[in-house]
Amino acid sequence: MRSSFKQCFGLLLISVLLLSLFFAWSPGSLSVVDIRPKLRGQIDIILEEKIQNIISGYDVAHRLAQNTCMCLADEETFRLPFSNLLFPRVWAHNISLAFLESHPDPSGVQRHRAQEYSKFQERSYSPADVLIVAEANSPLQYPTQGVEVRPLKTIIIPGLGLKEETGSKIKHTVYLTATLGTFDVAATVERVSVEGQGEKHMILSSPLLSALNRQLKFVTYTNTVFHPKTADTVQFSTDVHQSFFTIKVGHGTLPKLYNSGYQSEYNISALVTIATKTFLRYDKLKDLIDSIRQYYPTVTIVIADDNEHPQPVTGPHIDHYIMPFGKGWFAGRNLAVSQVTTKYVLWVDDDFIFTAKTKLEMMVDILEKTTLDLVGGAVREVTGYAATFRHTMSVEYGGEEGDCLHIRTGYHHVIEGFPNCVVADAVINFFLARTYKVQGGFNPRLARHGHLEFFIDALGSLHVGSCSDVIVSHASKIIPPWSKTESQKSYDKFRYSFSNADNDVHKEDFYFKNRFKCMTSH
Ligand SMILES: *[C@@H]1O[C@H](CO)[C@@H](O)[C@H](O)[C@H]1NC(C)=O
Ligand SMILES: *[C@@H]1O[C@H](CO)[C@@H](O)[C@H](O)[C@H]1NC(C)=O
Repeated sequence: MRSSFKQCFGLLLISVLLLSLFFAWSPGSLSVVDIRPKLRGQIDIILEEKIQNIISGYDVAHRLAQNTCMCLADEETFRLPFSNLLFPRVWAHNISLAFLESHPDPSGVQRHRAQEYSKFQERSYSPADVLIVAEANSPLQYPTQGVEVRPLKTIIIPGLGLKEETGSKIKHTVYLTATLGTFDVAATVERVSVEGQGEKHMILSSPLLSALNRQLKFVTYTNTVFHPKTADTVQFSTDVHQSFFTIKVGHGTLPKLYNSGYQSEYNISALVTIATKTFLRYDKLKDLIDSIRQYYPTVTIVIADDNEHPQPVTGPHIDHYIMPFGKGWFAGRNLAVSQVTTKYVLWVDDDFIFTAKTKLEMMVDILEKTTLDLVGGAVREVTGYAATFRHTMSVEYGGEEGDCLHIRTGYHHVIEGFPNCVVADAVINFFLARTYKVQGGFNPRLARHGHLEFFIDALGSLHVGSCSDVIVSHASKIIPPWSKTESQKSYDKFRYSFSNADNDVHKEDFYFKNRFKCMTSH
């Protein structure tokens, strides 16, 4: 007992010693770097001044930069039966007003939003987004884009050169300055003097222009401040000319590939998981599962269930996840989608019914052959009307008050090779998506309803399409849908979401999370 205790203690001591040695040796572990967000470095300030000088000459650019957005409703010019059907009116919603008028401390929440936004901007700031203008008649040659270095690694900067007249000068000199890294030369060329090797500022000069240009081919850049994804702005200049270019610093984007096995035809069971959320409708869910099994007997179905008294849902290829009672709509979507391991996930509501027209192969085909991330189908109501619920969206910059969101019924364009398919920004809640692109994308605060909100959050990261020829049936609907146009339906959605008392979360999300001040919609 005693000796084994001693042995253990000895081992422990040795491991502690080894560990501390390891940490002392491992490179980089002792250097301390300030990673608090910083807005502008010296080079950015010079760049900003230059851009101000260049654009101040152009009145239009100046005016546009100060412009802020507005949300204007259509005037009601004439009123005829069905006029809204033919010319859907645009409605304006004042989101700031809707949220702030019921808030106990409006100025406090405004201030808090401004603070959070400014921190967000600092975190997401990248020197690669700054406007750089190449000046005319510059003798400097440099790469304008595409130079990339892994964090803390070294590259040769391609394309540097100086094209000035040779006779006029005794000496040719260029200067290089960086913020997040240092310069060096990979080889030396005779009759070129290099100052500042291994530093952020390097000077190269030579009486021979050809020698200087040869030396410029060997200039290296080493990133010295670790960041997984940022950029360094390099200043490259002579005594009279200045140029700027960016070097991207980062790990790059790692692929997320799914090994679905080789197939000559699409094997839906290997490629697709069907995800749904159920609440109080086990009879409907059973009909859905039975209808799926008629066409796809082995495809996996993931069910998120937040019923108070969950009932068993069993059968082959069914994963039934029970959640705390009433967790809600988007929380359920998030949970179901998080458990999917196939390349694609199909979202269906629990009251849908598969038919012979629910051809998942067609949805897989368009995602395999285009750059789309998500494709919606059509939902046929009991009455026969098939809805696709296509919308376009845009966000306009609105200054300090917040931005403007514009939602319209419609689509951007038809997809070549797929005549029944279009590109849009939001589609119906029957869609096939690349799994990794939608995981975690459903805001779990939206408990009662919410659908467009997912597409608003995904603006700029999801490429969305919609095909009218892949159709699922809707088992229930109380209001006869032919009495309403799609645009009226979407309007109703917004009207209800702005008038219901328990919809404060939606207002807050629009006002605070997405920082909108207003929106317009059909
Ligand atoms: C929203 O309403 C507030 C208060 O009435 C007003 O100050 C603001 O200008 C309105 N904003 C928009 C975008 O209409
Ligand atoms: C299709 O995929 C499933 C699941 O991976 C597999 O069990 C089945 O054998 C595949 N079918 C064909 C025809 O390859």
